[in-house]
Order: sequence, then C-alpha cells, then structure tokens
Amino acid sequence: MAKKRKPAKKKTTRKKPGSKGKPKKKSAKKKSPKKTPTKRKSAKKSASRGRGKSAEATVPNGGEEEMGLMADPIAVRLAKDQREISISEFFTKNRHLLGFDNPKKALLTAVKEAVDNSLDACEEARIQPEVKVEIASLADDRYRVVIEDNGPGIVKAQIPNIFGKLLYGSKFHKLRMSRGQQGIGISAAGMYGQLTTGKPMRVTSRIGPRKRSHYYEIQIDTSKNKPVISREETVGWKKHHGTRVEMEMEARYTRGSQSIDDYLQRTAIVNPHVSISYAPPEGEKMEFPRATSRLPEPTKEIKPHPYGIELGMLIRMLHDTKARNLKGFLTTEFSRVSPRVAEEIMREAKLYERSRPNTIARKEADNLYRTIQKTKIMAPPSDCVAPIGEDLLLKGLKKELEADFYTASTRSPAVYRGNPFQVEVGMAFGGESSGSEDSTIKLLRYANRVPLMYQQGACAMTRAVIETSWRNYGLSQGRGALPIGPMVLIVHIASVWVPFTSESKEAIAHYPEIMKEVKLALQECGRRVATHVRKEKRRVEQERRKGYIKQYIPHIAIGLREILGFKQAEEKRIVKKLSTMLEKS
Ligand SMILES: Nc1ncnc2c1ncn2[C@@H]1O[C@H](COP(=O)(O)OP(=O)(O)OP(=O)(O)O)[C@@H](O)[C@H]1O
Ligand SMILES: [Mg+2]
Repeated sequence: MAKKRKPAKKKTTRKKPGSKGKPKKKSAKKKSPKKTPTKRKSAKKSASRGRGKSAEATVPNGGEEEMGLMADPIAVRLAKDQREISISEFFTKNRHLLGFDNPKKALLTAVKEAVDNSLDACEEARIQPEVKVEIASLADDRYRVVIEDNGPGIVKAQIPNIFGKLLYGSKFHKLRMSRGQQGIGISAAGMYGQLTTGKPMRVTSRIGPRKRSHYYEIQIDTSKNKPVISREETVGWKKHHGTRVEMEMEARYTRGSQSIDDYLQRTAIVNPHVSISYAPPEGEKMEFPRATSRLPEPTKEIKPHPYGIELGMLIRMLHDTKARNLKGFLTTEFSRVSPRVAEEIMREAKLYERSRPNTIARKEADNLYRTIQKTKIMAPPSDCVAPIGEDLLLKGLKKELEADFYTASTRSPAVYRGNPFQVEVGMAFGGESSGSEDSTIKLLRYANRVPLMYQQGACAMTRAVIETSWRNYGLSQGRGALPIGPMVLIVHIASVWVPFTSESKEAIAHYPEIMKEVKLALQECGRRVATHVRKEKRRVEQERRKGYIKQYIPHIAIGLREILGFKQAEEKRIVKKLSTMLEKS
C-alpha cells in the first residue's frame, strides 16, 4: 500500500496545496492512467476500503493521486471554513437553550427575564419593587411586551451593551444571591424579538429625578455580538427613576399553567414584598399587591470557598491575582482562609509563603490543590443567602392560595461544591386551590425566588420529592411518581450560585447535597401534614359517627316514651338532652 502511494505523494509536493491550476490537474488525470493503470485501480479500492465512501466522494477527481493528497487539500479547504463563532450567532441557532423554543414559551421567557431583572435591580437599590407588565396583541401571532420598573435605572453608557450584547452583565463574576447570573437574559429576549419581527428593542431609563431619561432603540449585530443603535434621544418621563423595556415578538398568548398569569402568581407567592400590575392582551387587568413592606435581607457577595474550586481554576486564579505572595493570595481570594489556615496549607504543601503566586508551577499548584482539599476549613459564611423565611412563605401562600392547612420550613444553610445554599419548603394542604384528592400534587419549584416553569422532570427538586416516602405522611404515591393528594408544594433553593442544568435556567442539577437538604425539609413539613391529615381523618370519622347516632336519637326517645309511658313534651326534652350530650362528647 505504501509503495503504491509513493508516486502520488511525489505529485503532491509538486503541486501547491490549494492551487487552482486546472490545466495541471487535467494533465495529471490524463497522464496517470497511461503510467500506472493497474496501480491506480488497486489504490482506489484499498482507499475506499480503508477510508469509507464519504472520504472518497470528497476527493475532486477520485484518483489515486488525489486520494494520496487527501490529507492536505481537504484540511486546507476545511481551514477556509474554520472561523470564530459569535456567541449571538450560536444562540440564534440554539435559541431553545435560552428558553425561546416555541412562541408560547418565548413570550413567557421574555417577560420572566425582564421581570427578574427589575426585581434584582430594585432589591439591590433597596427600593420596594413596583413592576408593570403589559402585553398587547398586534396581529395573530405578534405581541408587544412592555415591562416597567421603579428600580435604580441604568447609566446611559451601559444601556446599549446591556440590551444589545449577549454575555454582558453585572452578576456573572460575583458569588452573590440574585435572580440573574449569566448576563444573557434580556439581550436574548431582544434578539428573539429582532429575529422574529425585525424590530429593535426600545429602552427608556432614568437614574434619578435630576437626571434626564434616555430612550434607545437597539438591535444586536449577531455576527459581532455588538449593539447597533438605531435611535437615541432624551425624553420626558414622569418616573423619577426606573427602566422601561419594550419589545415586539412572534408569540402565543395562553392562560392556565405555564402562562404569564401563572408565572406572575407564582412570583407573588414567594416575593410578598413585590407589587405587580399586569395588563394581559385580553380580559381584565390583574393586580398582585404586596403583602409586606419588608424587603428581603440584603445579601453579601462572598469569595469562593477553597473546597469548591478545581485545579484549573486555582491555576488561573494564581495567575490573575493581584496578591504579591502566596499567603496573601490564599487569605484574600478565598473565603474562610485565615492567616493561620493559610500557613498550615503552605506548610503541608511545602510552599513558601513569600512565593509570588504567578511563579507557582503546575506541579506545585497541583500539590497546593490537594493540600487544600485535605485541610480542615470552616464552612462558608451563610449570611450571603437570604431565604424567604417561614413566616413570609406562609404569608405568601395564604395570600395567593385558599387551603385548609399551611406549613413551611427553612433549613439551615448547607454547601455544595463550596457554594452556600439554603432550602425551603412550603405546603398548602386541602381547600379550594390545592387540587383534588385523586390527582398528583402541584409542585412549584423556585430558585432565588424565581419560579421555574419548565423541565420539571429534569430537576433535582422533583427527584427529591419523588424519592420521599409520602405514604408515611398519609398520601398515596405511585412508583417513581409525585404523591397524590390535595396539596400545593413549594420547594425553594437560595444560593450564591444556582447550579442550573442549562442557560434557560429551568432545572437544578442533581447535587447530592441539594437533594439531601430538599428531602430533609420535605420530611419535616410532611410530618406536620401527616399530623393534620390524621386529626382531620379522626374529625371526619367522629362527624360520621355523630351523624349516625343523631339519626337514632328520635327513635330512642319514641321507644322510651312507649316503654315508660312519657308524654309528648317529655319525649322532646329527651331528644334535646341526648343531642346536647352527643355534641358535648
Ligand atoms: N431593569 C433593570 N434595571 C437595572 N439594571 C438592569 C435592568 N435590567 C438589566 N440590568 C443590568 O443589566 C445586566 C444584564 O442583564 P441580563 O438579564 O442580560 O443578565 P443578568 O441578569 O446579569 O443574568 P441572566 O442572564 O441570568 O438574566 C444585569 O446584570 C444588570 O446589571
Ligand atoms: Mg437577567
């Protein structure tokens, strides 16, 4: 085989790779059959055996020489197509990854991204959020979406980048509890609108009463992932501060589950400090008033915990740090590394505390990484996560759902991959809004106070609910299914970094620590529900018996009258007396 290929290789060296010299090729084709007719045939055969038909088909002339040339010219041709992919182009093609897979979901995702941003911004500025959502139908499948908040606004220079550039935001580089974290949300919504209607996103923002309001019309140049401003002006706006985002998009408006109405109601349950007014495209305006003026506790940003980093990340941090020595690096770049702990790590890893971090070699970094994992380090601080709290969770549940029994539980903070998190569970049992006796419970999942509306089956919280033995708590449950009963169950995870399974932020990854905490919270609330169910069963049984006995009281009185010869009035007195006794018992 090698022998047979030799002549072809020679020709390769003569011919410039990628050269367009047609006549040369022709002559090569003409000459070759004369020179080595048999060799050519066998080479073709063996090549097609070894490389498969498709490889053969891509060779221009399909000849022996060309097969020999294949490695180079095809690589050269491929090289012409190999280029950088812009993040916006990537997500335009893969918009389902961001939650824009169909018109119904796209409408919800767009509203969700904008409302989440408004709530984040208001809370960060310690402003009681007042959010307006307006959806208007423009044509059959076209809607205008408007979200307006009373937040701190956005400075003029940042508006184009925030709305016209994917992966641009203030939250990605921080370990801090917030609804957004990726820097994609709102620009992706704008990009979807642009893609389906060709219209720009319209943004108005004002940062204070003495500042002007700025109005922008922005599109995204998807090939460069850059904003294109089609209009920019200062406008009059009665709001002192806030942001208004307006976009047009191809969408489908529905009511019921997984609708905007559903999302806003779910948001209102776990955000009782928020006031939302909603004008749907059809029907009456809806109001979700606030149930408390207490804003969630402000959360602190934390440094990563040493247990949560990987070797590659440690190497990058060593390279990027501003710390002058290793001790300074360990104490300033990580949480819970005191000077004493840093000294212990360096002693164990046999590294000098004065070494410059960017001179640490890969092998030493590996050693440092292993030592960190073996050293006893305090768990990360928990004041960086702000749970809703049992009382506010109950308030929210009672405000939005009609039920017989409510309970809630907030677990103490725990840690996954070095990131602190806290799990909360709330239950509304029985009553009007809790569903029927013979259907599965309604599970409402939340992450950092944001309702997760899709991918229930792929979420760690759902798995934890399914893996809990609900029969112990008086509810029936099929194998591998959610329990059955009249219950609305809320599961909330609050964390400095929520481990979503995809960019559309719909399901939580299956970290064992998270699953464990959810199960423990479910068990705690489950026990309380079981006590309620038992009491309720007893009460119903007593009612049944009482009713049964009540039926016989008049007959007993008649019997007594006949046997003992009572008068009519005495019979009535006996009925009354027996009934009172029954009630009292
Ligand atoms: N209504 C608003 N008021 C003030 N700032 C805002 C508002 N909307 C967006 N921002 C700013 O714009 C940034 C980008 O928002 P975007 O939704 O694209 O990303 P994110 O919220 O950081 O993360 P995610 O992609 O997870 O939503 C935010 O980080 C925030 O700083
Ligand atoms: Mg966002």
